[in-house]
Amino acid sequence: MQIFLIGFMGSGKNYWAEKLSHEMNIPWFDLDSEIEKRQGQRIRDIFSDRGEGFFRRLEADVLRSVSRNRHKVGSGYSSIVATGGGAPCFHDNMDWMNQHGITVWLNPSVEELEARLSPERAHRPLLQNLDDDKLKEFIKSKIDERQEFYSKAKLEIKNTNIAVPAFINLILHAQKPN
Ligand code: S3P
Repeated sequence: MQIFLIGFMGSGKNYWAEKLSHEMNIPWFDLDSEIEKRQGQRIRDIFSDRGEGFFRRLEADVLRSVSRNRHKVGSGYSSIVATGGGAPCFHDNMDWMNQHGITVWLNPSVEELEARLSPERAHRPLLQNLDDDKLKEFIKSKIDERQEFYSKAKLEIKNTNIAVPAFINLILHAQKPN
């Protein structure tokens, strides 16, 4: 089973990828770390040296190659990919992910995102110049802008504090055809 976790920065994609990987015995990848390995540079340096357009092309490319290198588990090939917050919105990535696996949108409230992201601003290229008021505005407007892509996900989870077995159950149900 190929599972793509999508959602805004700070929505818990890496946290959940790791948890699900452990419980479901499926390997997981952080798309940003794979990009950094491929490019030999930190994400914030790729943004500042090469620009966002270059980063988005690399992101689309690495998404496809990471997902192709699927790992055999039992009788099938599986992996969990924690994508970057903007990944679904560029280069048809959302449609591609929907064709190749189950997309799960982690969608906590703006207030939760703000609390998680506020102390991390310095490390995040899109947030580093925002003060407290601007951070909240930015989160709201970016989510509005990205909604049309995020909402194509097969499954949406608003309560990201859900128990692990309940989360897995939702994925297994989403896997079944309607
Ligand atoms: C981005 C999210 C980041 C990273 C890059 C751009 C975005 O990933 O890909 O800084 O456009 O929302 P995380 O969502 O894993 O922090």
